[in-house]
Amino acid sequence: MNRTYAGTLDKSHAGSAATIAGWVQKQRDFGELVFIDVRDRSGIVQVVVDRSKGASEELLAIAKELRSEFVLRVAGEVRERSESTKNSKMPTGEIEIVATSIELLSRADTPPFPVDDEVDAAEDLRLKYRYLDLRRPALARNIILRDRIAHGVRDYMHRQGFLEIETPILTKSTPEGARDYLVPSRVHKGTFYALPQSPQIFKQLLMVSGLDRYYQIARCFRDEDLRRDRQPEFTQVDIEASFIDEEFVFTLIEGMFAEVFPLAGIPITTPFPRMGWQEAMDRFGIDRPDTRFGMELIDITAAAKAIDFAAFREAETVRGIVVPRGSSLSRRQIDDLSEEAKKLGASGLVWMKFDGLRGSSIKKFLDDAKFDSLRDALRANFNDLALIVAGKTTRVWDVLGSLRLKLGKEQGLIPGDRWDFLWVVDFPLFEWDEESGRFFARHHPFTSPRLEDVEKIESDPGATLARAYDVVMNGLELGGGSIRINTPELQSRMFRALGISDEDARDRFGFLIDAFRYGAPPHGGVALGFDRMVMLMARAESLREVIAFPKTARAQDLLSEAPSRVDEKQLDELGIALKRPS
Ligand code: AMO
Repeated sequence: MNRTYAGTLDKSHAGSAATIAGWVQKQRDFGELVFIDVRDRSGIVQVVVDRSKGASEELLAIAKELRSEFVLRVAGEVRERSESTKNSKMPTGEIEIVATSIELLSRADTPPFPVDDEVDAAEDLRLKYRYLDLRRPALARNIILRDRIAHGVRDYMHRQGFLEIETPILTKSTPEGARDYLVPSRVHKGTFYALPQSPQIFKQLLMVSGLDRYYQIARCFRDEDLRRDRQPEFTQVDIEASFIDEEFVFTLIEGMFAEVFPLAGIPITTPFPRMGWQEAMDRFGIDRPDTRFGMELIDITAAAKAIDFAAFREAETVRGIVVPRGSSLSRRQIDDLSEEAKKLGASGLVWMKFDGLRGSSIKKFLDDAKFDSLRDALRANFNDLALIVAGKTTRVWDVLGSLRLKLGKEQGLIPGDRWDFLWVVDFPLFEWDEESGRFFARHHPFTSPRLEDVEKIESDPGATLARAYDVVMNGLELGGGSIRINTPELQSRMFRALGISDEDARDRFGFLIDAFRYGAPPHGGVALGFDRMVMLMARAESLREVIAFPKTARAQDLLSEAPSRVDEKQLDELGIALKRPS
C-alpha cells in the first residue's frame, strides 16, 4: 500500500493519485457535496466527495456517515483548489483530494474534547486522554522534533567515537541531591533498589573499564518538587570521556549544539561565552543568568552605608536593580514586588523613583544629596525606578535575581529571537547549608577541586573552586558536568570533608573507591537535560509538551493512574506492611 502523509501534499502533486490514511478532523455535509478534513501525524488535508463531479451514491453515503475521529483510508486524485477556495491558513490549503474510494477502518466515540490545536481543554483532561491529545498536530510536531534531535545527537556522538552503553535502572542510590525512588526487592526482603538519579557512578566505572568514550540517552528519576522545567522521570544526554579536560567537553557540546539546534531554526555561534560563577552571581544574582537583557545587580553598599537607615547600616551588602522607565509603575505594582521580595526572604524592599517627584520608601532618611548619591551609585536615569535589597549576600542575590527575571518578562525587556548560550565555570566545590550546619557538594561528591585548590578542601572548604561547568541558555540550565576525582585518596578526603564517615562512604560507594585502586584514568563528562533541549527547540512552555507521556506537577500519570495501590498479596510477597493501611 503506497500511503502518502497528508501534510506532505502540495501543488506539485496536483493531477496525481494519492492514498492517505488517518482520522477525521472535521466533516462538513452540504447534501450532494461533503468535505472531510483528514489528519495524520504529518498534518491535515481536505478530501472532497462531490456527486456533481461523478462521486458514486455509495461513496457519498460513506462520507455522510463519517464523524470526528473515525479512522479511514482515502484514495483519490490531488487537485489544485480554485483561487477563491484556497486556504492560506492551512499548509495544504492550495490543494484537496477528490476521493474515488473511502474505506471506513474504525469508528470512534465522541472524544472528551475536540482534537484541535485551537481548543483549550483543561490540561488534566488532556493528560487523562493523552493518546487523543497526541493526535493534535502541535503536540505531534514536538514528538517528531524530539525524534529528530535524538537522532542528530546519536549521529554526532557516534561520529566523535562515543559508544552508546546502557546502564542499570535497578541500582543503588546515586547522590545527585534529590530523593530516590525506591523499588523493593522480593528476593532480598527488606532491601531496596534505587532508580538512578543519573548514571553518574556507572559512567565513571566505564572509564575505569577503559571504554573511554561513553554516552547514553538515559532515563533518570528524581523524587523532587516539580516545576514546569522538572519532571520526576526525565531524559539526559549523558556523556563521559577519559584523558580529557574541560576544553574537550566545551568543544564537544558546542559542536553537538551547532548540529542539532539548527534543526529547529536556532542559529549557533561558537565558542559560547564563559562566565565565572562569582561574576554570574554578582551581576545576575543567579548561577544560570539570562543574558538577553540588562537590569544587572549593582552593588551600592558604600553609598548606602552613608545613610542613617538601620537596614542598610546592619547589612552585609546592599544592592539594587534599575528598571528602565520604571517610575511609571503604580504603588500597587510596587507593593506586589515588595510582597514577592518578602516571600523570597528579604526583610524589605526599598524603592526609589527618579522622576520629578523623587519618591522613595525611605524618603525620610534621604536628603537631596543622599538621594543623588544613591542615584549615581545606581547609574539611574530620569524616570527609572530602583529596587534595593539589603541583607546577607546570598539572600540579596536570590531576591534581586528573581525580581530581575520577573520584571524582565513583565516589562518586555527580553527580546524574543535571541538564543544566548553560556558556559558558567569556576563553581565553588561546596555549598554551606544553614539548616544542617554543614557543607554539601554543590555538584556531586565526585567532582574534582581545581588542582591549585586541593589543599583547601580541609583548610578553607568555602573557598575551594571546582572543575565544574554548566551550559546555560536564555536562563535555563541545559546541562552540567565536571572533571572528576580519579584517585581513592582524594575521593576519601572529599567524602570526609562532606562529613561522610569512612564507614558510610565504604557502605555507599565502596565499589567506586575500590575501582579507583585499579587504575582510573583522568576523566570527566557532562549531562544535558534532553527534555529541556527539546522544550527550547520546540518553543514550548513546559516539559509536558515535549514528553509523550508526562507526569503532572504532583508526579501523577493521569492516563494510567500511577502511582496506585497494589494488592495485599503483592505487598506480602515483598515483605512489606503499610504503616497506615487504608
Ligand atoms: P545534573 O543534576 O546537573 O547533573 O543534571 C543534568 C541536567 O539534567 C537536567 N535535569 C532535569 N530535567 C528535567 N527534570 C528534572 N527533574 C531534571 N533534573 C535535572 C538539567 C540538568 O542540567 N550526573 C550529573 C552530570 C555530570 O556530572 O556529568 C548530573 O546529573 O538540564
